[in-house]
Amino acid sequence: MLRAFRSLTALLTVISLLFASGAWADAAQREQCEREFSPRSGQAGKDVIWVPTQEDLVMAMLKAAKVAADDYVVDLGSGDGRIPIAAAKHFGARAMGLEYNPQMVKLAQCYVRAEGLEDKVTIKEADIFETDFSDATVVTMYLLSDLNMKLRPRILKMKPGTRVVSNSFKMGDWSPDEHIDPEGSYSRGYLWIVPADVKGKWTFREEGGERTFEVTFEQEFQEIKASASGNGAPSVQDATLRGADIQLTLVDANNAPRTFKGQVEDDRIRLTGRVDGKPVTYVGQRR
Ligand SMILES: C[S@@+](CC[C@H](N)C(=O)[O-])C[C@H]1O[C@@H](n2cnc3c(N)ncnc32)[C@H](O)[C@@H]1O
Repeated sequence: MLRAFRSLTALLTVISLLFASGAWADAAQREQCEREFSPRSGQAGKDVIWVPTQEDLVMAMLKAAKVAADDYVVDLGSGDGRIPIAAAKHFGARAMGLEYNPQMVKLAQCYVRAEGLEDKVTIKEADIFETDFSDATVVTMYLLSDLNMKLRPRILKMKPGTRVVSNSFKMGDWSPDEHIDPEGSYSRGYLWIVPADVKGKWTFREEGGERTFEVTFEQEFQEIKASASGNGAPSVQDATLRGADIQLTLVDANNAPRTFKGQVEDDRIRLTGRVDGKPVTYVGQRR
C-alpha cells in the first residue's frame, strides 16, 4: 500500500510543487524559511510520507467543507502547513496543524509567520494518534485508507455536523457525502459530515396536543430508515440525516405527505412542520 502511494505520489508531487508557488507568501520569505530545511516530496514520515496536496484541491476541499470564520480546522499530518494556512488566509478560520516531523513543523511555523497568521494558525509537533482533536469543527487529512480507518471511531464520536475532508483516501464502508473533483486536478477529495446517532426507539409527542407515536430508526452512518408504530401512527415515507439535521416525511391516512424538519440533540429530536396550514411540532425522546 505504502509503495503504491509512493510511486503515484512521486509523479504527482512534481506537478504539485509546480502549482505550489504563487498562492503563498512572498517568494523571498518562503526561501528564507526553506534555508534551514527544504522538504522533499516523498520524504519519510512516521505513518505516511509527505506529499503536499495540490493548491487547487486544498481550496476545493475547504470550500466543500464550507469553512467559515467561526470554524476551527485541524489538519492531521499537516506537512508544510498549507491547509491550515489556506483555511485562515482565505476563509478566516482558526486552524491547527498536527505534524510529527519537527523539521516540517518549524518550516510550517515559519510560513505561518511569513503570512502574518500567528494569531489564527498554530502548528504543533504531535502524533495524530496521541493527540485530541475532538474540538475541531473541520478535520482535513491526506493520509492512507488504513490510517483513516484507524481514526474513524474517533471521528464518528465528534460533534454531529463536523466536516471531514480527505485527499484521495476514503473511510471504508462509510460512504462520502460528497466527491470533490476540481477541474484539472489529478487527485480528488472526499467530504463526510459526522452524523448524529439516532439509532433505536423513540417516542414522539405533539407539543400542546394529544398525539403520540413511536419511531424506530435503523442507522448505517448517515443512512437512516425509520418506521412508525402505535395507535393512529403516520407511516414514514422518507427519512434523511445530515449531521444533526433530520427530516422525516410523514403520511397520515388519506392525507398528502408532510415534511417535518428538526435537529437531533443527544436523546431528543424536535421536529416542526405544517398540517393544514398550521404549525405542528413533535418532540421525540429516545427510549
Ligand atoms: C501526505 S502528507 C500530507 C500533508 C498535508 N496534510 C497536505 O495535505 O499537504 C502526510 C503528512 O503526515 C505526517 N505524518 C505521518 N504520520 C504522522 C503522525 N503519526 N502524526 C502526525 N503527522 C504524521 C507526515 O510527516 C506528512 O507531513
